[in-house]
Amino acid sequence: MAEEPVSSLSLFSDDLLYNLEFSDDVCTCKLPDGMSPKTPGEGLCMRALQFTDFSKGYSQLLAQLTRVGDLTQDKFEEQFRGIQASPNTHYITVIEDTTRGELVASASLIVERKFTHLAAMRGRIEDVIVADSCRGRQLGKLLLETLSLLAIKLECYKISLECVENNVPFYAKFGFKQEDSLFMVRRIFD
Ligand SMILES: CC(C)(COP(=O)(O)OP(=O)(O)OC[C@H]1O[C@@H](n2cnc3c(N)ncnc32)[C@H](O)[C@@H]1OP(=O)(O)O)[C@@H](O)C(=O)NCCC(=O)NCCS
Repeated sequence: MAEEPVSSLSLFSDDLLYNLEFSDDVCTCKLPDGMSPKTPGEGLCMRALQFTDFSKGYSQLLAQLTRVGDLTQDKFEEQFRGIQASPNTHYITVIEDTTRGELVASASLIVERKFTHLAAMRGRIEDVIVADSCRGRQLGKLLLETLSLLAIKLECYKISLECVENNVPFYAKFGFKQEDSLFMVRRIFD
C-alpha cells in the first residue's frame, strides 16, 4: 500500500511551532537557555499531534489529567480525521520521548472565529498535561509559552482556560489573570 503523505498524518505543520519568535517583548517568562520547540531537551521532540499517536500513549497521557474512558484506536482515528476536516482550529501539540516512542506532554490551543471584536479569533488552552515522570523539567512552561505565542501569531484577541485553584500560580506566569465573570457548566456526562 502507498505511504500516506506526512501532511495528512499531522494535525498541522510543525513549522508553525518551530518558526515562532521567542522575543522578550512578547514572552511572559524565560525558557531555560537553548530550550525551544525545536530543541525541547535531549531525547525529546515537540510537534503537532499525529495520526499514529494512539500507539504512542496519547490516551494514557490524557488519563493522567482526566477521565478518558475506553478510547479505542478506531475512535481516536475517527476523531483525528474529524478534527482535520476543520483545519486551523485545533493546535494539539505534544512532546514525545523519542527514545521510548512515548508521548510525555501535551497541550492544545483551540481557535474559534468570532464575528465580534472586529471579527477576531479567540483562543482556548485545553488539556495541559505533563506526565508524572517528566514534571519539573520546564515542559509545561515550553508548551504554554509556545501556544501563547502561536495564539498571538494567529491574531487571537484573548486566550482563556479553566483550571483548578492549585494551578492558578502556574498560569499566572504566562499572563493569565482571574476575571470577575463566572464560569458556568451544565454537565451532560463525565
Ligand atoms: C501543571 C503542570 C502542567 C506543570 O507542568 P511542569 O512541566 O511540571 O511545569 P514546569 O516544569 O514547566 O514549571 C514551570 C514553572 O512553573 C512552576 N510550577 C509548576 N507547577 C506549578 C503549580 N501547580 N503552581 C505554581 N507553579 C508551578 C514551576 O516551579 C516552574 O517555576 P520556574 O518558572 O520558577 O522555573 C503539570 O504539573 C501537570 O501536568 N499537572 C497535572 C495536570 C494538570 O494539573 N494540568 C493542568 C490542568 S488545568
